[in-house]
Amino acid sequence: MEMEMNKLRQAAVEARGNAHVPYSGFAVGAALLDDRGRIHPGCNVENAAYGATNCAERTALFRAVADGAKPGAFRAMAVVAASSRPVPPCGICRQSLAEFAQEDMPVILANAQGERRVLTLRDLFPGAFHLSSPEEG
Ligand code: THU
Repeated sequence: MEMEMNKLRQAAVEARGNAHVPYSGFAVGAALLDDRGRIHPGCNVENAAYGATNCAERTALFRAVADGAKPGAFRAMAVVAASSRPVPPCGICRQSLAEFAQEDMPVILANAQGERRVLTLRDLFPGAFHLSSPEEG
């Protein structure tokens, strides 16, 4: 598992190199490991209309879904930035991940200095919103 985690982090580092960040200059890379052992990398993609920006985590997630990964089929995620402390996913990304990843999925947060933190999605986002039918309340 440790080797897989290193590969995942490395994929996030490489994806970070493709970030489109002319406005913030803050490049982020992410990578998701699915239950078939496939790695889905992503980077942040900014836009002149700032709100249209997509974070690295959601780029990786949407790419994985487009590649056929199914809800619940993710084993781990890595997020990498050159921040003083490892960067956690933003609130929107946490909600997006909660739709597809199990609560115990490990999320590896890393920075350029080699610092690492591993949290679960549950640690990052307890009490996620899931749509239930009106009868269920
Ligand atoms: N960003 C990410 O890609 N992931 C995060 O977890 C936090 C923020 C991006 C969005 C924007 O392009 C830049 O970082 C600065 O907020």
